[in-house]
Amino acid sequence: MTSRRAFIQQAGALAGAGVLQGIAGTTSLAAPVDESLPERVRRELLLPRGKNYLNTGSLGPSPRAVVDTVVDAMWTLERDPVSENWGRLGQQMEAVRKKVADFIHADPKEVLLTRNTTEGLSLVCQVLPLAPGDEIITTTLEHGGGEVGLEYLVKTRGAVLKKVELPLPPESKEEIVSVIEKSLTPSTRVLMLSHVNTITGLLMPLAEISAIAKARSIFLLIDGAQAPGLTPVDARAIGADAYASSGHKWLLGPKETGFLYLRSGFPGKVPPVFALYGSDVYTQSSGTRNVATIMGLGAAIDWHTSLGIETTSKYCLWLRNECYRRLKAVPGVKMLSPENPALSTGIVSFEMTNRKNTEVYARLKEQNVIVKVLPQHNGIRISCHLFVTPADIDQFITLLTALS
Ligand SMILES: Cc1ncc(COP(=O)(O)O)c(C=O)c1O
Repeated sequence: MTSRRAFIQQAGALAGAGVLQGIAGTTSLAAPVDESLPERVRRELLLPRGKNYLNTGSLGPSPRAVVDTVVDAMWTLERDPVSENWGRLGQQMEAVRKKVADFIHADPKEVLLTRNTTEGLSLVCQVLPLAPGDEIITTTLEHGGGEVGLEYLVKTRGAVLKKVELPLPPESKEEIVSVIEKSLTPSTRVLMLSHVNTITGLLMPLAEISAIAKARSIFLLIDGAQAPGLTPVDARAIGADAYASSGHKWLLGPKETGFLYLRSGFPGKVPPVFALYGSDVYTQSSGTRNVATIMGLGAAIDWHTSLGIETTSKYCLWLRNECYRRLKAVPGVKMLSPENPALSTGIVSFEMTNRKNTEVYARLKEQNVIVKVLPQHNGIRISCHLFVTPADIDQFITLLTALS
């Protein structure tokens, strides 16, 4: 086992021998955005200098504009709580719901503001009218926040939960669509999938899958925790019946913010209690809301809109492709993410075959490099957001190589 001191010495020796320079020099500078953009975005965050934050997939760091909006809203609210909450600030909260709807190409009536993805998915599961023996299909690579509602349906309705294994890593859209399609049976009522997979970063071919689900009248429930702010989301094009996400990951919004899209028509059947009196931010069924964080979510959407989600997603994919290419060459690294850029987003993950991932995580953390441990696969996940620079990836790969 390499001690911390030995690791630092090893990294130093590599640098001295010019090896680090060689590794660092392998990043192409042909970024698809203005090269100064990631640095400029980085300066808008409150992350201390020198912190190499590669875990937006767990929780994103909010830009100053978002933090300031939250603080300002609190000051305004606390000076005159009732008048503001149901007056001027209340109206601005309602405008945030419209911003979210526009951001995902939905009608505001289809969007509810929630606290997080887990809440949104669970609200939907609680009202799905399943009978004993009805099948729910999902994959073995889902997050617990998506699975909990499905487990509830098993316990309360006698539904049968089947988890299909996706290829790891997957190679083509056709391969994935075929695995999902083959898993469906005449008893399948619900298909729950992630838009962007939490473990591999796989961008699920949802348009193709939703066409198959629709033809069989299968309810398509999408866990969108990892998508908005990373990749464009078009709720209608995706074809989901329900889509839940969080504001505190790639959107870089305040913590405990989220939204739930319920395709028009769904609320007319049996809406969750939360939506009984409509989708307005404040209704009798929602109860009192946190105005400050909801306002901050609006600021986060404005922030992303002004940068352009196409720009962000293009850069994140480019950086992840660079990271992928170089990680592949690191000894003891087995890729979990797809190589095919058409199946990818700004997430790249890998398994460690010669080290314990928790040990690698701890060593990186000592150097202020923050990654996510994937316990199921002795793996590590890297989130490449717009504020992550090629130099950040150089630093991470250099340290990882020294640890291998
Ligand atoms: C795919 C996926 N679903 C759900 C969640 C849970 O998100 P939240 O804690 O915001 O509900 C996560 C969190 O990482 C996730 O990656």
